[in-house]
Amino acid sequence: MNLYANSAFSLNRRRQLCQRVVDERWTQVGSGLPLRSTTRETRVLDCPKNRDTPIVTKADSQPIHCVDALGVVADAMARADETLDLAARHLDSSLVDVLGILGFDKHYVSAQGSYLYDAAGRAYLDFHTGEGFASLGHNHPDVRDTLQAALAADLLDGVQIHYSPLAGMLAEALTQRLPPGLDAVFFASAGAEAVDSAMKFARAATGRPRFISCESSFHGVTYGPLSLVGDEFFKEGFGPLLPGCERVPFGDLERLEAQLKAKDVAAFIVEPIQGRMVTLPPDGYLQGAQELCRRYGTMFIVDEIQTGLGRTGKWFALEHWDLEPDFVLVGKALSGGYMPVAAMVTRREIFQKAVGTLERSYVHQSTYGRNRLSMAAGLASLRVIERDGLVEHAAHMGSVLRDGLLELQQRYEMVKEIRACGLMIGIELGAPKARMARLNWQLIHMASEGLFPQLIVIPLHRDHGVITMAAGKNDVIKLLPPLTLSEGEARIFLDALDTVLAECHGSSSKNFAVVRDIATTTLRRQARAKLT
Ligand SMILES: Cc1ncc(COP(=O)(O)O)c(C=O)c1O
Repeated sequence: MNLYANSAFSLNRRRQLCQRVVDERWTQVGSGLPLRSTTRETRVLDCPKNRDTPIVTKADSQPIHCVDALGVVADAMARADETLDLAARHLDSSLVDVLGILGFDKHYVSAQGSYLYDAAGRAYLDFHTGEGFASLGHNHPDVRDTLQAALAADLLDGVQIHYSPLAGMLAEALTQRLPPGLDAVFFASAGAEAVDSAMKFARAATGRPRFISCESSFHGVTYGPLSLVGDEFFKEGFGPLLPGCERVPFGDLERLEAQLKAKDVAAFIVEPIQGRMVTLPPDGYLQGAQELCRRYGTMFIVDEIQTGLGRTGKWFALEHWDLEPDFVLVGKALSGGYMPVAAMVTRREIFQKAVGTLERSYVHQSTYGRNRLSMAAGLASLRVIERDGLVEHAAHMGSVLRDGLLELQQRYEMVKEIRACGLMIGIELGAPKARMARLNWQLIHMASEGLFPQLIVIPLHRDHGVITMAAGKNDVIKLLPPLTLSEGEARIFLDALDTVLAECHGSSSKNFAVVRDIATTTLRRQARAKLT
């Protein structure tokens, strides 16, 4: 039975049915009967037959045992087909428009492991995982179990005079996996807040006003981090931003030194691998930057919000270059995709300089920063990564994908460059040589920088049920598959990409037609906007 398909169903009737599903699950828990989930059965039946078993075999385990007496979840299930209308009305209507134009406006109703499922039961292989936040795959059952246990234990939270052991344990677990000396942690609710915290603490520790970051960098969108971000289009209309923030090209030590020489720079912040286009650092760059920071008394902040926790085939990307920064920032994958959480990790003496007196002990806080659920999910995620060897697995699967992509590059001229470190992968596309295809390429670029990769991204999604993402205003497709990815799933992706690339190498391809139509509509809209 598909609870969402028949729009003629009244909302009340759908609500009742969905509530019954939730209730039935609960009754079965109470009666000791084995749990079965109607929605999950539907989903399994509708899954592609070739879906192989991911590394986490518990992924199809028991559904959540819960009573939702208020009917919130039943209502959400019943109203699944209104999702995008609700978002357009009350959330981010222009993003809903973009999803519609690109054909991404699906009614996803659930997610598990490497897959999302839409209302019709179609499975979508997720090679993006929300920019890496669902790094353990979606709804990892062991993290979920930990969260349920934490809820069932009625632990306390939000009490200013209290520390939960979970927070100390998570801080301890993080520091044990980082270079020695990084032993003091501040927990925040978002990556941007961790970046902001590091900016404040670096100023307090050095007494200096300025910050240096890199061109094309990304550090978040609140005012502090946005002042560091490398691309202007994120900032347009939001100024004035924080004064004293300058950017230098990623990889250019001379320009960095020129900035640091004045000895008024509190911190240099860098992503070890730039997430926007998956740009790898030139040899010796990060070590050189660290050395310059030490020489001029500048704090060296490594933003691992995207690269951390196994993503690059190491616990932290900084291990590839033996870095020993003053700050490491962690976020995204830290709660296994369940809870908002991020962390700033630094040295005790830096922490103390910022807030290390009785009077100042309250001046840097975050209401939900170390809440029990985020802390429990963080600990569970670290334990899953450790137990299942996911760091090594990510390194292995990264080379499987890289080899497969390099082989495709040999065969398709449109694949210009593959950049990869573990499971952080960028596919840069280049201009096709054939005359018509090249004209299309020019038209598409005239309409919008960043539209061209949709030539691949749209049909991967539409025809093959594979989710990837264009990396922004450039020609890069970014892949951040789950660390739990199996070889079979990697193969499904590579085969799908092979088919799509073959279709695109031909000017009559329907893929070109779709993106060309988007480009033409965009150009018309831009012309109209200029006239009004
Ligand atoms: C490297 C990096 N830093 C900071 C952030 C900001 O994190 P959040 O969106 O949780 O504020 C991001 C988000 O994509 C990021 O990739």
